Amino acid sequence: MFRPLKSCSNVGDFRLLAKQRLPGPIFNYIDGAADDEVTYRRNTQAFEECDLVPNVLAGVEDVDMSVTVMGQKLAMPVFCSPTALQRLFHPDGERAVALAAQKFGTMFGVSSLGTVTLKEIGELISTPKLFQFYFHKDRGLNDAMAQKAQASKFDALALTVDTITGGNRERDLRTGFTSPPRLTLKSLASFAVHPSWAVNYFASGGFELSELKDYIKEGSNVSISIGDYFATMLDQSMNWKDAEDLRAKWGGPFCLKGVMSVEDARRAVDIGADAIMVSNHGGRQLDGSRAPFDQIAELADAVGDRIDIICDGGIRRGTHVLKAIAAGAKACSGGRMYLYALAAAGQPGVERALFNLRTEIERDMKLAGVKNIAALNRDMLRWR
Ligand code: LAC
Repeated sequence: MFRPLKSCSNVGDFRLLAKQRLPGPIFNYIDGAADDEVTYRRNTQAFEECDLVPNVLAGVEDVDMSVTVMGQKLAMPVFCSPTALQRLFHPDGERAVALAAQKFGTMFGVSSLGTVTLKEIGELISTPKLFQFYFHKDRGLNDAMAQKAQASKFDALALTVDTITGGNRERDLRTGFTSPPRLTLKSLASFAVHPSWAVNYFASGGFELSELKDYIKEGSNVSISIGDYFATMLDQSMNWKDAEDLRAKWGGPFCLKGVMSVEDARRAVDIGADAIMVSNHGGRQLDGSRAPFDQIAELADAVGDRIDIICDGGIRRGTHVLKAIAAGAKACSGGRMYLYALAAAGQPGVERALFNLRTEIERDMKLAGVKNIAALNRDMLRWR
């Protein structure tokens, strides 16, 4: 019934597999976005409105796609963005993504709303690790998370700045999706028609948000929607001073995740951030906001020589990565591009997703006539 992994050649193939395997509320949590999902769609469409102008006869038998971002050398120019609740999608959760990222020499981001401890991830892989920090009202929790990320040898910290309140995710409202899943008649019925997911979920030990559970019962022992979690647990008074203080406390490579405007990018430089992830949270927060790719060129012109720009969101193809870098990004990152694959097949699924992307990037670099990432520049792009 399920198609074999080898025949999954793109993100859309994995999406279909994930849809078959996951109960509806969980699939829709991954697949859905805010309001009318205009920004979510736009994140990928933006790439389609910009063409590559290839060069030829460039002697491309060996291409080098490595990049350095936030001081981390990555073997490929795209990495796994932090995403929440991974053990809900596959029993191995973050462990599977961490090991797959390590195999491909790229960075793995772990969310504050992760389901495996930072300690375990730190011991599991030696390749670059990014911790995605959600700034909570509970300052004791904030300090504990930063300390654990340090103790677990995380290489960089990304402060999320685009979730000051919950996005209006109407699919989640409709399905009643919560963390942990609420056991209602409706959800039990959706588990019953996905028995292999249900057996894995209930057999794989208690579900919890590993770094939060000792401080906040919602999300681990008490069901809550992600929108309500953001709206009630995160600190809406968070400001630039808080970001600057966190950077100083952390001391290592520091990034703001969710910066879109030139003004904010300049302030990120002022507070000493090493990178910005240009992101609208996969279209899950402010619908109608601009796509990351559409913002890259103006951000690169303003601050590209002072801060690493990461294009986060909408990446489905190798050519998308090349376009973002040609426009001025140092690297790209994405969530759904590997999450569907995690849900579809665990670690081998994520490996296949990364393999597909790496294969495309290599082929596309050859076809575009570039031997290394530094050779990509805006002369190769034309907006229609
Ligand atoms: C999301 C958060 C948790 O659901 O990253 O978008």
